[in-house]
Amino acid sequence: SWRAVATDHILAIDQGTTSSRAILFDAAARPVASAQAELTQHYPQPGWVEHDAEEIWAGVLSTAREAIANSGISPERIAGIGITNQRETALVWDRASGAPIHRAVVWQDRRTAEVCDALKAQGLETLVRQRTGLLLDPYFSATKVAWILDQVPGARDRAERGELAFGTIDSFLLWRLTGGAVHATDVTNASRTLLYDIRANRWDEELCARLRVPAAMLPDVRDNASAFGMTTLFGPPIPITGMAGDQQAALFGQGCFAPGMVKSTYGTGCFMLLNTGDEAVASNRRLLTTPAYRLDGRTAYALEGSIFIAGAAVKWLRDGLGVIADAAQTHSLATRVPDSHGVYLVPAFVGLGAPHWDSGARGAIHGLTLGAGAAHLARAALEAVAYQTLDLLEAMRADGAAPPAAIRVDGGMAANDWLCQFLADILMVPVERPADVEATAVGAAFLAGLGTGLWRGLDDLPDSCAGGDTFRPRMEAAQRNALIAGWQDAVRRTLR
Ligand code: G3P
Repeated sequence: SWRAVATDHILAIDQGTTSSRAILFDAAARPVASAQAELTQHYPQPGWVEHDAEEIWAGVLSTAREAIANSGISPERIAGIGITNQRETALVWDRASGAPIHRAVVWQDRRTAEVCDALKAQGLETLVRQRTGLLLDPYFSATKVAWILDQVPGARDRAERGELAFGTIDSFLLWRLTGGAVHATDVTNASRTLLYDIRANRWDEELCARLRVPAAMLPDVRDNASAFGMTTLFGPPIPITGMAGDQQAALFGQGCFAPGMVKSTYGTGCFMLLNTGDEAVASNRRLLTTPAYRLDGRTAYALEGSIFIAGAAVKWLRDGLGVIADAAQTHSLATRVPDSHGVYLVPAFVGLGAPHWDSGARGAIHGLTLGAGAAHLARAALEAVAYQTLDLLEAMRADGAAPPAAIRVDGGMAANDWLCQFLADILMVPVERPADVEATAVGAAFLAGLGTGLWRGLDDLPDSCAGGDTFRPRMEAAQRNALIAGWQDAVRRTLR
C-alpha cells in the first residue's frame, strides 16, 4: 500500500539453557505471539553439560519465524530485535565457515574445576575478583574456552591467528543473524567470561594471558541498547538493537532501575540480582559484582547471587527419577502433603554456587524415613528453591544491603502460587510477581525498543508490573525457624 507501515513491534529471542523462545511484543510490551523449542542436553560425563550450537540456531530461527507467523503481524512492523541468552556458555567457531569447532560447553559444566583450583592455588583469584567481579569457578566462560582450544587439534594456533571466534550464545546468534557480518557482544555477557574489566570497560590483557584465551578471538563489546547489526532472515531488513544476558534482562524487564531493587528469576537455575546503581559493590560473601546494564556509556551495577539448580531439579524429578510426568505435577504432588516429612533435597547436582561455591559438592537427599514418599521429595525440591533464595538474601544483607521492600520474581517456576507463598514465608519479605512471568524476554524487548527509538528512555517504558500479584509472609516464626534450621543442617552435610 502507499501508506507507511508503523514499526511498532519488537521481537525478543530468549535462548535459555533448556529451551529457546521467541516472543513478539507490541508497543505496550504485551506479548502478541510466541513459540518455544526444547533444547537437547548432552551429558558426556558426570558433571559435564554440552549443547549443540546448530540445534540452538535451528531452534532460534524456527521459533522466531513461528512467532512472527502466529502473530499475523507483517515483519515490516518489527522495529527491532532483542536477544537474551543463557550466560557464560562458551562456543568457538570458525570465522570462515561459521561452523562451531566443538559443542558449546554449558555454564553448568564442571570439567574445568581442577584448572580453577590450580589457578586459585597460584593466587589468581584476587585479581579476578578485582577486575571482573567474579570468582575462579568453572561456571564462567574462560576456562571452558581454553579447554576447547586445548582439546581440538590445531585450534589454539588457529585462534592466535584470528581464524576462530569465541562467543557466548548471544554473540553466536548475532553472528548468524547478520550472516557473519558482526562479531559482537554486550557488556553483561562480556562480564561473565572472566576476561572483562567491569570498571575499565575493556577486555583485560593480563587475564586473557593467564587464562590462556587469545584476544584475537574475542567479540566487540557494546552497550545493551545499540545498533548491533541487521538481519534479513525474516524478510525485510530488521535491526538487532538490544542484547543482554538473561538474568540482567530479567532485572531490566522487571523494571528494577533504582538502587536497592531486587529480582529473582526461577528458570533452570535461580539468580537474584540487586541493583546497586553506579557503584560496583565488592562482596564479602562471595556474591558476584556484575554490570546490570550499560546505556549511553553509563553502567548500572548489580550484586548477584547465583544458584545453579531450580527448575532443573523439577526436570530431574521428571526425567531422571520419573516420579512426575510433567513439571506442573510437582505443584499438585507437593501440596498433597502438609510438609516435606523432614526430607531435604540439596540440589548440588553441578556443585553449589553462591554463597558456597563448592564445585565438588554433589546433590543429596537428607532426612529419609520410611514415611517419606514421592510427594515429599517433590515438595523438598520446591522448598529447596526458597531456602537457597534465603541464603542469597542473607548474603546480600551481610554485604550491607538494606532489607528490600519486596522481591520481584519471574521465570517459569514463579507461576506456581504455592512456591511464591512459601518463598514469602521463608524470606519474610513480600514477593511480587508480574502478570507476565517472562520478564527475561520483556527485558530484551525493552532494550531493543530503547535501541530502536520505540521508547525514548527508562521513564517511557511500559509498566511491566501492572496487574501482578503480591504474596505476603504469614508463616509462624517457630515453624519457619525449624524449617530453616533443617535446611542449614542438610547443606552442612552436603558441602565437600
Ligand atoms: O548464568 C546462567 C543463566 O544465565 C542461565 O539462565 O534461565 O537458563 O536458568 P536460565
